[in-house]
Amino acid sequence: MCGIAGYLGPHNADQILLVALERLKYRGYDSAGMALLDQGKIVVRKAAGTLEHLAQKLITEPAAGHAGIAHTRWATHGAPTEINSHPHQSSAGRVAVVHNGIIENHDALRKELQATGVVFRSQTDTEVIPHLIAQAYAHTADAGGDPLLAVRAVIPRLTGSFAFAVIFADFPERIIAVRQGSPLLIGRGPEAMMLASDIPALLPHADHVLHLDDGHLADVTHTGVEISTFAGAPVTATFARIEISADAVTKGSFDSFMAKEIAEQPTVLERLLASRIQVLAGCDHLVMPDLGVDLATVRHVTFIACVTSWHAALLAKRFIEHLAGIPVEVEVASEYRYRKPLAIPGGLAVAISQSGETADTLASVRLAKRLGLPVIALVNVMSSTIARESSGVMPLFAGPEIGVASTKAYTAQVLALYLFALQLAKAKGLLTPSAEASILEDLRTLPDQVRNTLAGCENAVSEAAALFAPADASVFLGRLGEHPTALEGALKLKEIAYIHANGYPAGEFKHGPIALVTAHLPVICLCPHDEAYEKMLSNLQEVRARHGRLIGVGHADDHHLHDLCDHVFPIERARAKALQPILSILPLQRYAYHVAKRRGCNVDQPRNLAKSVTVE
Ligand code: AGP
Repeated sequence: MCGIAGYLGPHNADQILLVALERLKYRGYDSAGMALLDQGKIVVRKAAGTLEHLAQKLITEPAAGHAGIAHTRWATHGAPTEINSHPHQSSAGRVAVVHNGIIENHDALRKELQATGVVFRSQTDTEVIPHLIAQAYAHTADAGGDPLLAVRAVIPRLTGSFAFAVIFADFPERIIAVRQGSPLLIGRGPEAMMLASDIPALLPHADHVLHLDDGHLADVTHTGVEISTFAGAPVTATFARIEISADAVTKGSFDSFMAKEIAEQPTVLERLLASRIQVLAGCDHLVMPDLGVDLATVRHVTFIACVTSWHAALLAKRFIEHLAGIPVEVEVASEYRYRKPLAIPGGLAVAISQSGETADTLASVRLAKRLGLPVIALVNVMSSTIARESSGVMPLFAGPEIGVASTKAYTAQVLALYLFALQLAKAKGLLTPSAEASILEDLRTLPDQVRNTLAGCENAVSEAAALFAPADASVFLGRLGEHPTALEGALKLKEIAYIHANGYPAGEFKHGPIALVTAHLPVICLCPHDEAYEKMLSNLQEVRARHGRLIGVGHADDHHLHDLCDHVFPIERARAKALQPILSILPLQRYAYHVAKRRGCNVDQPRNLAKSVTVE
């Protein structure tokens, strides 16, 4: 997945586009570039590596121009080198393109273009686009050169997903943008027009946003934008005010977005609860958003998600089966989309996706709809493709999550899914008013318990991280509701500290993985006082008997735990017992953060990753 941006306004575009790329680099950050329109020619600056390399190049080789396009890359076709970075140009350099997505028929198009004498510079799929557009544009010469006609002629030639922006040296005040399968937004401000893959990159120059739909093309000039279908039919341009403030996408006083987003969790949960609890006559009532589905008729739920969102779905299964008494399946989106799943009468599909753009989850949403299942989505980006293609949407209200490793979105997903389970139980008449009020009262204590746990575990976490940062493997063990915590904690260590960390259901450990135990292996065990506690103590004994290094995640006053473990990460006892996993994951988020920092890793943009994987 990549990020694209564009600017048309009174100022020089280079620094404005750099800031936009900074806000998009969570989408991909192995190389970057920009193309500016400067007095009838296109000036391109590109660099492999982090965005700082491009910024440095713009200092040593300045580029002028008040209109331009830019790109930050997550390599799909071709290594992350300067020559493969975007923008890509036509042979004469009179057309430049930045692209997010994949041109699946690029190989055939490349061969066709080479047969006409085109010499390719890069190994990318994208480079076919500027060459095709330049050739189509040459055919409009009799009509005086029509860039729109040229772009429209090329679009039907492309197979795959693409959001791209194109500039023509002959038109110094114009950017043409196209969307099919990858997100693209148009921003409008008091003095400038912008385009970007995501809202934060439009700030602060735009205060209104338009979401380009699939099959639509935008012709952007200084004065505004004209939207049309690929075939040319005009479309009314509808802008909405941008509600996100610029500081929501800056690190503030934190050294990383991940640190900021971990710390934001109490506020995020408070915001989510405030949106779902209404006080009537002094009593708490659950607010049930209209999801476009009669929940009373739901007989079966299928969750579809990837990785962290999938871990949250594992907890949702427990919540719904316990509270609403209906069977739940939890599907990995990248598997579900290729299976022939059964559509069970009374079934409901629920897609969980922080970004709302994950390709596997989106493809699964489309499959579920083809099977005749109603689909609702739990997303953090209400304007995302998954949200727009679902019949009902549950907003996460977590605010932009920039750090690639999900933290606040995960805990918000778990709470939102618990509220959904309550909503299902209530729709089925299984939640009495007194039970509802009592549960909601317990939920109100959760944000403060998150605050206290984050503060209370910091020293123990930091101490253990100092000791175990050099370890190249780790094991996480949890049972029942803490099994997803073990999986999520292991994922954090994998993705930001590059450690071979695995999470297991603790009962499985003795069936094989226990062979991994040595005196150098940190084994992190989730041991809150829940129904699995006694069994977890047995697991601790098994590891201890084999001289493993034990970290227990449990309660500060648990003397058993302190006796058995080398370290204890203290967590509060959740008043809302079912949501103990929200407290349990907190020290593991901070542990991964500290270990990664000690290993010199970039916690916000880990190697090889992107925030949302919009390719298969
Ligand atoms: C989470 O830390 C990871 N960055 C990643 O696995 C993520 O959970 C996954 O790509 C799904 O993303 P989504 O929730 O935006 O669909």
